[in-house]
Amino acid sequence: MITKIHHVGIVVRSADEALKFYRDALGLPVTADKVVEDQGVRGVLLQIGNSEIELIEPTRTDTGVYRFLESRGEGMHHICFETDDVEAELEAAKQKGIQVIDEKPRRGLAGMICFLHPKSNHGVLVEFAQPLPEGH
Ligand code: CO
Repeated sequence: MITKIHHVGIVVRSADEALKFYRDALGLPVTADKVVEDQGVRGVLLQIGNSEIELIEPTRTDTGVYRFLESRGEGMHHICFETDDVEAELEAAKQKGIQVIDEKPRRGLAGMICFLHPKSNHGVLVEFAQPLPEGH
């Protein structure tokens, strides 16, 4: 079951620069700050009420996030819905003919995650996340 908006992902050129707005000007606390090597990104999570903002900075040029930044510039990248069963959510989406990016859930910054293709979701890249018990 989908329970809430877990986070909104925003692609930025420099997370340090973006933190001047989200952390310093808005006062949102940073809950995670990690380089995910296999995805070639630095991800920074900031708490906003029961949800989060995820800043995504590409650390390599051979990634989808880098290409997104080059072609579209900084801005909103995806929305993430929290679920208590990411595997079931992904299977249900596939059954309904929704085009997926990940065939299986994988480990991400927000827990076990997967992405649905924006073509099936009215132009919005959608992520499902099942947070892990140990947190970020
Ligand atoms: Co995300």
